[in-house]
Amino acid sequence: MPVALFDTRTPLAPLREELLAALTGVLDDARYILGPNVAAFEEEFASYVGASHAIGVANGTDAITIALRAMGVGPGDEVIVPSFTFYASAEAIPPTGAVPVFCDIDLETFCVTPDTVRAALTPRTKAVIAVHLFGNIAPVAEIEALGVPVLEDAAQAAGSVSSAGRPGALGTAATFSFFPSKNLGAFGDGGAITTSDDAVADRVRMLRFHGSRDKVTYEHIGYNSRLDELQAAILRVQLPHLDAWADGRRAAGRHYAAAGLAELVELPVAVAGCDPAWHLYVIRHDHADELADALAAAGIGQKAYYRTPLHHQAPLVAYDRGLALPATEEAARTHLAIPMSPVLSEQQADEVTDAIRAGLAEIGVAAGASARDGG
Ligand SMILES: Cc1ncc(COP(=O)(O)O)c(C=O)c1O
Repeated sequence: MPVALFDTRTPLAPLREELLAALTGVLDDARYILGPNVAAFEEEFASYVGASHAIGVANGTDAITIALRAMGVGPGDEVIVPSFTFYASAEAIPPTGAVPVFCDIDLETFCVTPDTVRAALTPRTKAVIAVHLFGNIAPVAEIEALGVPVLEDAAQAAGSVSSAGRPGALGTAATFSFFPSKNLGAFGDGGAITTSDDAVADRVRMLRFHGSRDKVTYEHIGYNSRLDELQAAILRVQLPHLDAWADGRRAAGRHYAAAGLAELVELPVAVAGCDPAWHLYVIRHDHADELADALAAAGIGQKAYYRTPLHHQAPLVAYDRGLALPATEEAARTHLAIPMSPVLSEQQADEVTDAIRAGLAEIGVAAGASARDGG
């Protein structure tokens, strides 16, 4: 049986009536921009993550640019960002006037560490973007202990938890994406910024609405970047289910372990103290591309999301300072996302694992010859 890379349909099926009622409610109310659903969702989401404020914006990319500007980042500043992440994590920096400085990751967790950030620090560093990649949670407090404010890019980490709290409440501010395939997904684009800093929240609210508080006088060159009322209504129906879905993702990770996947490939490792709601389940293997071809032939969803790290992407090459990023290069070469969803069953995990075992045999790689031992 084919297994899709992700499944956004099954978890939403039981919520169909409630979702339709929420959409009808918006239609009946006829308020489509910054209405009662956005206000209520902002309150509910802030309370969920444990921050004082959540501010809805148009998407997770705008969220980063706006949050950085609200944190005071501007021309002449540097922002440290991992090179192994989605393009938007770095793309969102130059519009603030600052420049991205790429840092390395930890190969096992795919997240930045205090050491990889320290290597990229300069007197111009104004902020660090700690990307909670694949649902893991970067060690925010340890990075802030270096003396730089952290913006959490939590686009992939809604539903994850750590001993320090939830993503969204760990740094100076945090950004979320509600792109449909995310752990908490809208029916289109959407995003949010969370913070417990009142001044940052105030600037974010202004920036998302053209730099205005009252819609008639303008204090900044801002953005038209708002979470739509319809999307907020949809997100409000889903938010109460996020923790159960996160548990489903954790269970899927356990199904893979029980199926013996660790004997075949390198599994993702949780950052110490973190219980990830795996957004993507990303394995590593020296023959990742051949394995991907074998899985595709067997009907198993797979994708190498970041084969080219950001410091090699054409529009960002100019920002590369030549800092060695060995774990980034290695992760980029060897990673492969395999099926993950809140409803991935034991049987599906067995099927995927069997297909990986068969694929490795087909390409002539012995079991156990994974990325770790360079086989
Ligand atoms: C790590 C990361 N940062 C930022 C974004 C940007 O979010 P959006 O697509 O909502 O602009 C995404 C997702 O797309 C992401 O995965």
